[in-house]
Amino acid sequence: NKGIIIMGIESSCDDTSAAIIRDGEILSNVVASQKVHEDYGGVVPELASRAHQQNIIPVVDLAIKRANIRRHEISAVAFTRGPGLLGSLLVGTSFAKGFSLAAKIPLIEVNHLQGHVLALFIKENGVELKAPNFPFLCLLVSGGNSQIILVRDYLDMEVIGQTIDDAAGEAFDKCAKVMGLPYPGGPHVDRLAKEGDPNRFEFSRPRIAGLDYSFSGLKTNFLYFLRDNLKENENFVEENMADLCASLQHTIIEILLSKLKRAAKETGINEITVAGGVSANSGLRNALQENAKKHRWNLIIPKFEYTMDNAAMIAITGYYKYLNKEFTGQDAVPFARTQL
Ligand code: KG4
Repeated sequence: NKGIIIMGIESSCDDTSAAIIRDGEILSNVVASQKVHEDYGGVVPELASRAHQQNIIPVVDLAIKRANIRRHEISAVAFTRGPGLLGSLLVGTSFAKGFSLAAKIPLIEVNHLQGHVLALFIKENGVELKAPNFPFLCLLVSGGNSQIILVRDYLDMEVIGQTIDDAAGEAFDKCAKVMGLPYPGGPHVDRLAKEGDPNRFEFSRPRIAGLDYSFSGLKTNFLYFLRDNLKENENFVEENMADLCASLQHTIIEILLSKLKRAAKETGINEITVAGGVSANSGLRNALQENAKKHRWNLIIPKFEYTMDNAAMIAITGYYKYLNKEFTGQDAVPFARTQL
């Protein structure tokens, strides 16, 4: 018995990825990141879809090779149907459809956000990476999303709070850009913040009811703050880089944590997890650990490689959908925006 082998395909933004999972256990996870966007300070959708087209076949080939399986052993192909950039999604969707037709295996659509959450259940060498117990809360923070998700079961989740404008990753990236840092700026802010004083500058925090987030006010406040100070001193950014990064990061983390704490209190759930690219942030990880101690959370932070955009999370979601016999027809089209 070869088990249930799922191939996952992810192409929602600027990473082309393919992964193979057998019975929930990772066999391979290949990610080709696109360099073309660096010169533009952000992802250029048209360039992204072209790069996906160039990358998809070699990436899938490599994933199958590294998994050390035969093509015909694959039980089903799972793909990201959305949310994401439409042109990018179209490449992965079309490839998955073609593969499913040619191999005569089922097609499974996956919601990218659900994938980020279920990445927590990927097994390595038979060992489940410290998975959370249901129900749990997941703080999903990426370049495109900032949400608090209540997860009742593998395929039963509900967004209980989300950003009404920008995502946390966008706040990092856009503020980094006005400081002249390369794209994506989040990791640079993280690095520079380590040397800075997080309480040196005060930036505005949103006042929003309930569990929702907002980051556009902070972004504007940061921009105007720099503009005003640059009028007085043209070297203001260079001279204060570390403190600016530390104070900005501190503000973003405080905003994220305040609603997460509230969600834990309101739902009475103390199983807490985090997902998405911004969960790589060292300040956020420290703040989560501190709060876990204080509030007795069972905190689970996934392995770094599964928090970024990747196809392993799509394959693991495909696996649970396969067990549920949730298959998709050839008429499926990608969607740019969607709820869970
Ligand atoms: O989940 P992800 O790989 O893809 C998108 O949804 O776009 O997240 C990428 C985001 C970017 O905004 C990037 O700046 C941010 O995650 N990011 C970080 C760090 N590493 C990645 N933000 C802050 N600190 C980091 N260490």
